[in-house]
Amino acid sequence: MKRMVLLVLLISGAALLVSAGALPQVRMIELPPDNAMSELKPGPGLEVVRANCVACHSTDYIVRQPRGDAKRWGTEVKKMISVYGAPVDEADAKVIVSYLATAYGPPEAKETKEKSPAKPATKTP
Ligand code: HEC
Repeated sequence: MKRMVLLVLLISGAALLVSAGALPQVRMIELPPDNAMSELKPGPGLEVVRANCVACHSTDYIVRQPRGDAKRWGTEVKKMISVYGAPVDEADAKVIVSYLATAYGPPEAKETKEKSPAKPATKTP
């Protein structure tokens, strides 16, 4: 008997889902998570990048690029807008460039801090 009740509940549940699906409503799709290599680094502006830069390609395209300063990333974002037609407004573009130049900025800035002159960075075995 318990099984019967459960079955009825299941069927009515399914019927509800079907009828809900028939109503006009906003449809959402959940994108699959990016692979680990393409995870964007945390930082201010990350959400703006996610909102504007994943419609056409994965974040791999950003993560696997050589690092660059604001000028280089600015050129990249401009190219997305003018060449590929990315719908990014001026204000968002600024936030995106500043995120990219910080999270994926030029390596020299970090390396000069990390490398101390006493320790050579490369060791030959
Ligand atoms: C309208 C679609 C579209 C959107 C939105 C878009 N891109 Fe692209 N992106 C492309 C295409 C097309 C390519 C080139 C793909 C290829 O060459 O295989 C590309 C390539 C890239 C590359 C690789 C280097 C290059 O120049 O080819 C980077 C980096 C990149 N996009 C960053 C971004 C960033 C940052 C954003 C958000 C501002 C963004 N993209 C939004 C279409 C888009």
